Amino acid sequence: MKTVLITGGAGFIGSNYVRYALEKHSDWRVVVFDKLTYAGNLDNLKDVAEKFEGRYAFVRGDIADREAVFQAMREHAPALIVNFAADTHVDRSLMEPGTFIMTDVYGTYVLLEAAREFGVERYHQISTDEVYGDIAEPLRSTEDDRLHPSSPYSSSKAGGDLMCLAYGRSFGVPVTITRGSNNIGPYQYPEKVVPLFITNAIDDLPLPLYGDGLQMRDYQHVLDHCDGIDLVLEKGQPGECYNVGSGVETRNIDMAHAILDLLDKPRALIRPVKDRPGHDRRYALDVSKLRALGWSSRHTFAQAIEDTVRWYVNNQWWWRKLKSGEYLEYYKRQYGSAGR
Ligand code: NAD
Ligand code: TYD
Repeated sequence: MKTVLITGGAGFIGSNYVRYALEKHSDWRVVVFDKLTYAGNLDNLKDVAEKFEGRYAFVRGDIADREAVFQAMREHAPALIVNFAADTHVDRSLMEPGTFIMTDVYGTYVLLEAAREFGVERYHQISTDEVYGDIAEPLRSTEDDRLHPSSPYSSSKAGGDLMCLAYGRSFGVPVTITRGSNNIGPYQYPEKVVPLFITNAIDDLPLPLYGDGLQMRDYQHVLDHCDGIDLVLEKGQPGECYNVGSGVETRNIDMAHAILDLLDKPRALIRPVKDRPGHDRRYALDVSKLRALGWSSRHTFAQAIEDTVRWYVNNQWWWRKLKSGEYLEYYKRQYGSAGR
């Protein structure tokens, strides 16, 4: 049995990867280490805890808490650390940058210290295409491009990436990094645009579209991202970064239309609202480095968005209770009267 510490495993992508990894690697024991912030949710792992009892454990803790991280390392002695833990929402980072620096930069440093002190086969950092900043058509970001982040979120992620590379080069920690594009699929907290639009549309609420809606994102299925992460863990070279994305960009307005069409709701639900400050216009990744390892995307945008819409229609038990309390306070602060 190989023990794998998955930090942030109770969040959206982390929980999808935990399920994916336990199904795929029958010789893995997974320990999820998660602070359970507003975005962390044990409901995301409910089926996992039942199905994989004996190969799955959960530890509640903060990656920025050195003692808690070192204690988990002593107790579980993982061979691999895969770090999904982060504060992740751009709009929240514009409200409170400090928590992003604390988790995404300092927390990454603490995990790297743990990897260095205890020794691991691999430390893998989950990063984002946002570290490159926006890029004009027809260009695509490659792994060697300079980092040019725009928001406190993406700047914190870039800081985490650089620290990983420094620990690789200076201390010989076997680090790899994947930089994924926007993920969609089951268990994404409904502050992110796709689940926000789907759940609002189901309830006939407005879809707050920032600015002109012509910004472009590569919306990939979360399971394609999981494939990429898993392949890099297996075949990636220490010290290297790998982009993960479908390579196909969609305009936000077209994504909103796709959701409304799938739900048979009127386009009049789209409500243009004030743009996000510093809003990146377009992300686009060159994914040839990952393809060279044997990866390819299994879902088109049409399949990914249909799968996602269907999941939110069928799993209202999961998201309805999230749209209360803290969520509503955030929603009001972010959207004001435009969101109603
Ligand atoms: P998420 O917000 O859904 O989940 C984050 C998880 O991290 C939560 O379970 C939360 O409780 C936990 N967490 C936060 N701070 C913590 C701390 N200090 N200590 C321990 N746990 C903590 O995020 P996500 O969308 O699943 O993103 C996961 C990772 O993937 C992040 O590193 C993010 O930057 C990256 N990423 C996300 C996307 C995307 O589209 N969502 C795209 C590319 C990369
Ligand atoms: P988001 O899901 O926040 O991801 P990111 O900003 O990390 O790419 O937003 C995706 C796109 O959707 C981005 O261009 C901003 C836009 N957006 C809206 O138009 N309205 C919204 O309410 C939100 C949250 C995002």
